[in-house]
Amino acid sequence: MKDGKFLTLGIESSCDETAAAVVADGRTVYSNIISSQIEIHKLYGGVVPEIASRQHLENISTVIRQALEEAGTAPEEIDLIGVTKGPGLVGALIIGVAAAKALSFAGDIPLTGVHHLHGHISANYIAAPELEPPFTAVVVSGGNTDIIDVRGYNDLVLLGATRDDAAGEAMDKVARVLGLGYPGGPKIDALAGKGNPHAYEFKRVLLEKGSYDFSFSGLKTGVLNQINSLKQAGEDIPEADIAASFQMAVMEVIVQKAVGAALEFGRDRLALAGGVAANSLLRTMMEQECEKNGIAFFRPQPVLCTDNAAMIACAAYYRYREGLTDDLTLDACPVLEF
Ligand code: KG4
Repeated sequence: MKDGKFLTLGIESSCDETAAAVVADGRTVYSNIISSQIEIHKLYGGVVPEIASRQHLENISTVIRQALEEAGTAPEEIDLIGVTKGPGLVGALIIGVAAAKALSFAGDIPLTGVHHLHGHISANYIAAPELEPPFTAVVVSGGNTDIIDVRGYNDLVLLGATRDDAAGEAMDKVARVLGLGYPGGPKIDALAGKGNPHAYEFKRVLLEKGSYDFSFSGLKTGVLNQINSLKQAGEDIPEADIAASFQMAVMEVIVQKAVGAALEFGRDRLALAGGVAANSLLRTMMEQECEKNGIAFFRPQPVLCTDNAAMIACAAYYRYREGLTDDLTLDACPVLEF
């Protein structure tokens, strides 16, 4: 406690960002330190799990110390430690979980393990102080494309998920073939702005009627086949048109299903989350479709969309308020049900 505020230290290390944050009363960010490993993984065209673990190990203490310093907080003023327990890369998660347990034990501070996707959704509570459940959440990242009915802070029901590639993963793969580099999502986003989104009508896969699941691998293959046939015919690759048409095909399906879920479950609020939520087309299209249907639209600012620890601290705070804490047997869970 400091100045009457309940302080949560959040720790995140599920993939390639080592992050720590101090958040007051669950929603006010005092510090949000993110040490990205992207420059190292770029050399390999994607995240190398072994390298990620080693980098987390090297960085975690510094990142936590910086988060406390920037927040002007002493370790003994921390009331709760929240850490991502999964899903993610096991070797990466273990580093964050071990650091959180050590601090919890040393300072006798309550501890709670957070589901990474609860964290992503909670970024919206930070961005919009008025937002409370129930609402529809859409998590679109490098590993997930999920639609969730958020019934309470800790009562989340998964309505649909990708059956193969996540949207971000498909974007990263297409970007790689176009030679745009890693991570591909932001590169596709930027390039698409210069292209015609209707130059190619790539197939939109909606699956069975009423399903909130996604499938992007067929679309991805369709795009790769198009690039290969152009190459074989010796033609120039219209990169911007391909990026724009592909991006449109991905986002149209996400928007249609997400708004459909909100309407079916009678939700008048929809929140976007995850790295791909930073995508400019997705934001614009979702905003327009929500407005058309009388749904209030929420999305965090880009720094809260990609992996960060402020969102983990926020989710941890709402777990703690409902008595959901963990002891020192807390373990990293690479695969974790919703
Ligand atoms: O949530 P995140 O930081 O990590 C996890 O996957 O958990 O998301 C990373 C993903 C990557 O696939 C990246 O290409 C994508 O988010 N991404 C974007 C944009 N910014 C990041 N995709 C599309 N447009 C963007 N502006």
